[in-house]
Amino acid sequence: MFDKALLRLSNIQTILRLLAGLSVLQATFIITQAYGLSKAINGLWQGQTLMAVINWIGLFLVSYVLRHVITYIQDLKLEQFSVNVSEELRVKLLKKIFRMGPKLVAREGTGHVTTMVLDGLTQVENYLHLILPKVMHLMIIPWIILAFVFWMDIPSGGILLIVFPIIILFMIILGLAAKSKADKQFQVFQILSNHFIDSLRGIDTLKRLGVSKAYGKNIFKVSEQFREATMSTLRVAILSTFALDFFTTLSVAIVAFFLGLRLLEGQAPLFPALIALILAPEYFLPIRDFSNDYHATLDGKNALINVFNILDLKEPSVSTELLNFSADEPEIQIDALNYTYPESDALAIKNIHLNVKGFKKIGLVGMSGSGKSTLIDLLSGFIEPDYLEARVNGTTIETFNNASWQQQTIYMPQHPYIFKATLRENVMFYVKQVSDDAIIQAIQQVGLYEWFEQLPNGLDTIIGEGARQVSGGQAQRIALARTFLDDQRQILLFDEPTAHLDIETEAELKEAMLPLMANRLTFFATHRLHWMHEMDYIYVLENGEIVESGTLDELIEKQGAFVKLACWIEEDVNEAD
Ligand SMILES: Nc1ncnc2c1ncn2[C@@H]1O[C@H](COP(=O)(O)OP(=O)(O)OP(=O)(O)O)[C@@H](O)[C@H]1O
Ligand SMILES: [Mg+2]
Repeated sequence: MFDKALLRLSNIQTILRLLAGLSVLQATFIITQAYGLSKAINGLWQGQTLMAVINWIGLFLVSYVLRHVITYIQDLKLEQFSVNVSEELRVKLLKKIFRMGPKLVAREGTGHVTTMVLDGLTQVENYLHLILPKVMHLMIIPWIILAFVFWMDIPSGGILLIVFPIIILFMIILGLAAKSKADKQFQVFQILSNHFIDSLRGIDTLKRLGVSKAYGKNIFKVSEQFREATMSTLRVAILSTFALDFFTTLSVAIVAFFLGLRLLEGQAPLFPALIALILAPEYFLPIRDFSNDYHATLDGKNALINVFNILDLKEPSVSTELLNFSADEPEIQIDALNYTYPESDALAIKNIHLNVKGFKKIGLVGMSGSGKSTLIDLLSGFIEPDYLEARVNGTTIETFNNASWQQQTIYMPQHPYIFKATLRENVMFYVKQVSDDAIIQAIQQVGLYEWFEQLPNGLDTIIGEGARQVSGGQAQRIALARTFLDDQRQILLFDEPTAHLDIETEAELKEAMLPLMANRLTFFATHRLHWMHEMDYIYVLENGEIVESGTLDELIEKQGAFVKLACWIEEDVNEAD
C-alpha cells in the first residue's frame, strides 16, 4: 500500500507527520459530528424542544465545518509539497540526463525520456497529491472510528471489524489485476511515444523514401494497442470501483439491519445505534477513497518508479586528477583501451596502444566502421571506456571524462550539434568573451561569410532545430569556427571535419585549418587520405584495433594495411566517378 519509493522523497517525513496529525483531528471531528447529530435526533425523538438540543446541533455544525477546514488545509499543504517534489525531481532528472549524456537517451529512447520529464512528473505530482492523504486516512481514521463504535455499541463494532478484511481482500485482488493492466498500458505507452517521436524526427526521410504511409499505419497499430490497453485498464478500474461501492454499501446495510432488529426487539437504545449507523459509512470511506484514487494514480506510481530507476543508474565515472598542461609538450600514453557499445556484444575498440608526445598531428584512418569515431569519442570523454590504462602528462587517469583534460580539448564530432541559439552563441562555444569582429573573422575563415551576409539578423540570427536550419557542411563549418576562436586549448579532436564538404571547399578550408593545428596536439580521424601528407604520425584502425602505425613514408614502405586501405579508397573514388 505504502510505496517504498515514496520514502525517498525529501521532506516526506514532515508531510507524513502533518498528515497523520490532521487525520487524527479529522477522525475526532467525524466522531463529534456524528455525536452531535445523534444527540440532537435522539433528543427530538424523545420529544425535547429544538432549543433543548440546539447545543448538539451547534456541535454538529462546528465539527462539520472544522472537518472541511482540515481537508482544505491538507489540500493546500499537499499541493505545495507535490509541486515542490515534482519540481525537485525534474531538476534532478534533467541533471542526471545531462551527466549521463547521450548514452542514457540512446538506451531509454528519446520519446520515453521526453514523456517522463514532461508528463511523467505531472503524473507523479498528481499521485502524491491524491494518494498520500488517502493512505494516511486509511491507516488512522477507520481505527479511531472503530474504537469509538466499539465503545458505544459492541455488536456494531464487531460487524464493522469483520467486514473490513473482506473488503481489503477484494481490493487487493482487484488492485493486482489493475496493476498488471496498468503496467502493460504503460509499456505500450512508452513504445508509442518512442515510435511517435522517432517518426516525427525521421518524417523527411520517410516521405522521401515513400514509406510514410506504411509508417503511419504502424503508428496507428501501436496507438490502437495503447487504446485497447487503456480501455482494459479502465474496465478493471471501473469494475473494482463498482465492487467496492457495492460491498461497502452492503456492509452498511448489514450494520443497519442488525441495529434495526435489535432496536425493534428493544435490545439497543436509539442513541448508540444512531451513532454506529452514522459512523459506518465514514468507517468505509477511507478505503473507498483510497482504492478509487489508487487506480487513477497508478500511472503516477509507475512514473515515480521509472524516475527513481533513472536516478539510480550508475553514472559515468569522473576523474578529478589535475593534468599538468603548463608544459608545452603534452604527452598521451595509452597502454590499454577497450570499449563495447551498450547494445552490442562485440568490442568496438580494443587493445589500443598509443603513445604521442608534443604538438603533433596524429592521423587516425580506417574503413567505415573501423572505430575512428568511437576512439575520438572515447578520447573526448564523451563515452566511458570499459577499461583504460592511460597517462596524460605522466598522470594516470581512468577515464577521459576529466575536467582538466576537457578544459584542454576541442572536440569536433562527426555530426556536430547546432544548438537552437544565435549564431554568435553557437560559435562562441569554447570562449566566454570575444568581439563580434573576431566571430565574423572566424566565420570568414571557415568560408561561411556569404551565407552569413544573407542572414536577416547577422550574428543574432537564431539557428538550429526549429529555427533556421543549417546543412551538414554548414554545421561542420560552424563547429570549426568555434576552434578558430580559441587559442588556449592544446588538444584538438577532429572527427571527419570535412566529410560533408566538396573537394574544392575542403581544399580551401585545409589552408585555413593547418595553422590551427600548428601549436596543438591534434587527433584527426578521416578517410580522406590526402590529409595524411600533413600528419606527423598515422594509426591505421581495423575492426576497432590499431593494426599499423608510423609516418606516412614508413607506412607506404611497409605496403601493409595502410596501402591496402589507400588502394581500396582509391578504387571506391574511381567507381564513384
Ligand atoms: N551507437 C552505436 N551503437 C552500437 N554500435 C555502434 C554505435 N556506433 C558505432 N557502432 C559500431 O562500432 C563500430 C565502429 O564505429 P565507428 O562509428 O567508430 O566507425 P568509424 O570508423 O567512425 O566509421 P565512419 O568512417 O563510417 O565514420 C562499428 O562496427 C559500428 O557498427
Ligand atoms: Mg566515424
